[in-house]
Amino acid sequence: HGTSRINKNGRLEIGGVDTTRLAGEYGTPVYVYDVALMRERAKGFQQEFEKADVPYQVAYASKAFSCIAMVQLAAELGLSLDVVSAGEMITAAKADFPMERAHLHGNNKSDDEIALALELGVGCIVVDNFHELSMIQEQARDNNQTVQVLLRTTPGVEAHTHEYISTGQEDSKFGFDLQSGQADQAIASLQADPFINLRGIHCHIGSQIFDTDGFVLTVEKLFAEFKRWREEYDFVPEVFNAGGGFGIRYVEGDEPLAPENYVKDLILAVKKEAADADMALPEIWIEPGRSISGDAGTTLYTVGSKKNIPGVRNYLSVDGGMTDNIRPALYNAEYEGILANRADEEAPGRTAVAGKCCESGDMLMWNLPLPDAEPGDILAVFCTGAYGFAMASNYNRFTRPPVVFVEDGESDLVVQRESIEDLLKNDLPLRLKEKI
Ligand code: LLP
Repeated sequence: HGTSRINKNGRLEIGGVDTTRLAGEYGTPVYVYDVALMRERAKGFQQEFEKADVPYQVAYASKAFSCIAMVQLAAELGLSLDVVSAGEMITAAKADFPMERAHLHGNNKSDDEIALALELGVGCIVVDNFHELSMIQEQARDNNQTVQVLLRTTPGVEAHTHEYISTGQEDSKFGFDLQSGQADQAIASLQADPFINLRGIHCHIGSQIFDTDGFVLTVEKLFAEFKRWREEYDFVPEVFNAGGGFGIRYVEGDEPLAPENYVKDLILAVKKEAADADMALPEIWIEPGRSISGDAGTTLYTVGSKKNIPGVRNYLSVDGGMTDNIRPALYNAEYEGILANRADEEAPGRTAVAGKCCESGDMLMWNLPLPDAEPGDILAVFCTGAYGFAMASNYNRFTRPPVVFVEDGESDLVVQRESIEDLLKNDLPLRLKEKI
């Protein structure tokens, strides 16, 4: 997929660069990103809005994978940016991202994070709860500043996805539900506030979603509320933000839609509901994370020890694991991979690929078809571009791998490998004894 192919030497090539060369140059494990594919994914969403002539923003959800170069790419691609923390905001600011195109999310934003958002000129804050609402109102008043906000709602639509990552249901830590009257209460408060401009409504129904039914149902449910809110609070959303969650293909059998097809049905549904309600068409915003950076990322590992339990299983260990990809251990997520240096060979055997952490659950794949791998072979695991690096850890005091962008035959190191010194730099020696 993307620019990945097997070259004439039988090796995996991405962005015109031989991945075994990348492994040699940057070491392993290493995350390699196919930049052309990220451009294509972003354009897939944007072009559909352009075609439909609908005002829109496509905001890259930077939680999926954020670093300065990625945010710079997002800026270059004309994407907006979803940020959820001081860290993501400052990364965006350092990347010179146009902060008016950034949106701040989070179910427990701190006073400091809200202050930072106002200071950096973050374009809008997505209000999640009453605690935050009063903090924003207070800071806006103190600064004598108008703050643009969206209200995050839980429309009660549950996407069919892993339970840990579905957020659309009403029993959720995120947003205001539509049943208890709390969304109404928040709208009334925001509408009455001279320092707040309530621009619209946000929702996010889950992640790794494969069809558009949930999005269409959400639009229908929300427009029923929009009609009521127009009558009761004189509030008509200028912006409808449908969140992210568009699925990608990790393994055979996953059948996601193309970016444009997710957007097509969403636009149709919003147009229909707005026309039926005799309401101006709102701007449509979306927040794809995984579907921009997910399948563009490939992790390269070096094969180390092998173990065969006769009649049971072949284990192959690589030089990374749950520290650079927690998703198999956390969600039972499945991946596919190949030997990058022997990409043209038959893969008859089934292999269990283990990470090197001291934990039995540190398995990347249980049944990967592979040739008989030897220590020193390079294993490429596909579709690790979203929530891989982003959720990486230092368990066992491993250092986080570097990130390399590739395009048109060139590679560019955009995040350096963490060093042991980086790990130690916040440690302080034990001093308790001195006090006794
Ligand atoms: N917008 C909001 C408000 C979100 O909460 C999320 C993801 C997104 C957008 C982007 O969703 P995406 O397009 O990437 O599906 N760690 C999990 C995924 C957690 C998603 C959290 N929210 C995983 O590795 O599957």
